Amino acid sequence: MLKIKNIAVFASGSGSNAENIIKYFENSENGKVKTLLCNVPNAYVLRRAGNLGVSSFIFSKDDFYKSNKIIDKLLYDKIDLIVLAGFLLLVPENMIRLYNNRIVNIHPALLPNYGGKGMYGDNVHKAVIADCKKESGITIHYVNENYDDGNIIFQAKCEISDTDTPESLARKVHALEYEYYPKIIESVLKRL
Ligand code: GAR
Repeated sequence: MLKIKNIAVFASGSGSNAENIIKYFENSENGKVKTLLCNVPNAYVLRRAGNLGVSSFIFSKDDFYKSNKIIDKLLYDKIDLIVLAGFLLLVPENMIRLYNNRIVNIHPALLPNYGGKGMYGDNVHKAVIADCKKESGITIHYVNENYDDGNIIFQAKCEISDTDTPESLARKVHALEYEYYPKIIESVLKRL
């Protein structure tokens, strides 16, 4: 019999990707979002998860880097895959070792460009527009011990017109994220 795999989503902010992923896996035979982990106590993602019946686990930086609380939670929930969706902390090495090739992230640009520390959300789109780039997109990749550096699983592109602003580019990139991230997560789950 097919085993439904357990997903943990880590997010720090608004959580529109987290919401999209939770909804997608409500109708999947391959996985379900078991828990939402968040390091920002008033992040909007907590409300989104709650509205969809997914329980949340709020943690501090110290919990993440100086305790086993998060790993214990992941093991207790029998998590098979960790999905980062707008999560802004660097994942500690012990978690990367434990979940080797089982942590994925989405980045709102075409890596290896416009990645690294401080490159998240609107900062990325502002930098791309400032450089007068003709295209941007999304990168879905495995997570290693450096920001935005693990092996790339999938990329999709969008065009940038002369009239695009960081806000309009963000909308184009979000549309790509919503279309592809859940499907790519599902394909990774099937290979576990
Ligand atoms: C998304 O665009 C995601 O790609 C980006 O943060 C946004 C979160 O939006 N992640 C990064 O920049 C990671 N370096 P959301 O909270 O509405 O899903």
